[in-house]
Amino acid sequence: MNAELIPLNRFEGRFRAALMFEDAQSLLGMTRTESRAFLHTAREEGFRGQYEKTCLLRYDQGKSRLLIAGLGKRKEFEPDRIRVAAAMLIRDAEKMEVRQLGLLLAKAVPSGLPGFVEAAVHGAILAAYHYTEHRKLKDDDPRPPDDLFLCLPKGQAATKTLKRAVAEARAVADAVCYTRDLVNEPPSEKSPEKIAELATWLAKKGRISVQVLHKAELEKQGMNGILRVGAGSHEPPCLVHLHYKPKKARKTVCLVGKGITFDSGGLSLKPSTGMDAMKSDMAGAAAVLGVFKLLGDVNLPVEVHGLAPLAENLPGGSAQKPGDVLRAYSGKTVEVLNTDAEGRLILADALAFGSRLKPDVMVDMATLTGACVIAVGDEYSALFGTSRPTISALIRLGKQQGEWFWELPLVERYKSHIKSKVADIKNIGKQRVAGSIVAGLFLQEFVDKEVPWVHIDIAGPAFTQDGWDYARPGGTGVPVRTIAAWLKSL
Ligand code: BES
Ligand code: ZN
Ligand code: ZN
Repeated sequence: MNAELIPLNRFEGRFRAALMFEDAQSLLGMTRTESRAFLHTAREEGFRGQYEKTCLLRYDQGKSRLLIAGLGKRKEFEPDRIRVAAAMLIRDAEKMEVRQLGLLLAKAVPSGLPGFVEAAVHGAILAAYHYTEHRKLKDDDPRPPDDLFLCLPKGQAATKTLKRAVAEARAVADAVCYTRDLVNEPPSEKSPEKIAELATWLAKKGRISVQVLHKAELEKQGMNGILRVGAGSHEPPCLVHLHYKPKKARKTVCLVGKGITFDSGGLSLKPSTGMDAMKSDMAGAAAVLGVFKLLGDVNLPVEVHGLAPLAENLPGGSAQKPGDVLRAYSGKTVEVLNTDAEGRLILADALAFGSRLKPDVMVDMATLTGACVIAVGDEYSALFGTSRPTISALIRLGKQQGEWFWELPLVERYKSHIKSKVADIKNIGKQRVAGSIVAGLFLQEFVDKEVPWVHIDIAGPAFTQDGWDYARPGGTGVPVRTIAAWLKSL
């Protein structure tokens, strides 16, 4: 779907859309006089601008239509409501087979015009996303509008700031869709090497360099966490290192993403029900690639390293076994008591590698624990870490971006849970006791104490069976929007 700014009088389509606050006297982007007749008819239909509701009106002897989406009460406003409302407009427009949609813009929102534009573009593009790679399109398949025209009130020209807001919002939404595509891809079509190839293509444009540490290199470097997790598969594991270095970088950030292209659990095999969802166990790595796609499209004044440890966790003849001991890249030995706690093993190597790059801050993203879904549910990610400013920023920006984070503590005393009798550390704690925290504590053992670090457990929201708001079923692209907003804010 194309999205562009145009002056209102240039919009020639017959299908317009507007947003409104509950019980407001006018529609956003229209004067009171212009709104009056519409609002009158809408009220007769029982529509007053309630959040998550839409109302379709015909005018011009039925030749034109106006679709209104409610933002709810003004004092309950959150920027994400614009995203949700825009998404509802797109879904309704899809059902009505609208090809060109003109959305009225207005200054009168708390987020201001650039914020309005950003959120509307996000909501529209993300709701218009469909994963249709592997099936034939049918006639009755919903097809989003071809064009979304963002119409400015009469007399107001599109400023540079607004044009930039549209372009950036589009780039961010495209990055989210790219991440979704990777997560939705069938597991056998996204082997570690295949993802490394995609990362290499991404790096070709923009100021991005890429290095892939293939299996032989991992062996040379002693990255046994990644190697042992990948040992049960015919697909060799690897580590992707992307690097974006603009001329005047203010900060250096290292992003790390868990890239298990399929998590069967290994010899500690998972139950077969729902195992298919474990194609999403590379959502952290997919988010790293999504962010680098964005870095290829827009200029950001931050140096960014992106690390994606990639492996397929299968129970093959050479798979690691419960009871095995491995020496991780940092030199620490790990007793592997459950091969399904594999994410922390590949991240251990990547975090130690990232620490050596001496970034100002390191952030890892991982579908790490089922316990996290129990703790904070399927729409929240859990945050842990040692960088207070980063944690606060991610929570605050996440709210604006419609990605929800809740901090959990790295409880020192629980370090006793991962003490091993035979190695420096073991890869699981007590059963059903603070699983997400213990996983976080395990990771912390491999992060240099000098490097401020945040761990994001995205096990809940990275993948959804049914979809919500503007998340379609499948990969959601969490937490790409928040990371993008954070990098921009540094
Ligand atoms: N990839 C899973 C975690 C997961 C579960 C993500 C559900 C998304 C949805 C991870 O590798 C795993 O299996 N973790 C185990 C750890 C346990 C063995 C200590 C878990 O959560 O059960
Ligand atoms: Zn697992
Ligand atoms: Zn996993």
